[in-house]
Amino acid sequence: MATIVSRREFLKSMGLVGGLALSSVIVAACGGGSAPAATSAPAAAPVTLDIASKGEELVYDKNTLEAPANSKITLNLKNNSTALSHNWVLCKPGTADTVATDGMAAGDTKNYLKDNDANVIAHLPLIKPGQTGSVTFNAPAPGAYPFECTFPGHNALMKGTLTIK
Ligand code: CO
Repeated sequence: MATIVSRREFLKSMGLVGGLALSSVIVAACGGGSAPAATSAPAAAPVTLDIASKGEELVYDKNTLEAPANSKITLNLKNNSTALSHNWVLCKPGTADTVATDGMAAGDTKNYLKDNDANVIAHLPLIKPGQTGSVTFNAPAPGAYPFECTFPGHNALMKGTLTIK
């Protein structure tokens, strides 16, 4: 409003405050002000996804997960093993094998994840036996995204797909 008032005062001082001049100033100001709201998508309700490892098997208890577009996703991974560590890594489409290979090279101290891996959308570090880890991230664009455990030897079976609708 400060801008409108100052423009109005300015125009008044110039003797230009007629109906036409003033309304065009207001239209311009309103158009500029409403633009950001129109371009930001409405946020969907937050979503919680639960996944777990299945005993001592090298699998998750589900291989499909789903969430709506524009949601904030919290993923909980419960490690039900008594001996094995697992992580959970969400990858860009088509990059799961590369992420696992790069993760193996990075090693245990890096949670089997390459530093700042551009192919990784969200991830949990290695979760120890019996523990639960959580990660919160914004849903990527609608599509199908592979997730996997990058602990060496696990990703062949310990994997699935997160679908964003
Ligand atoms: Co694993």
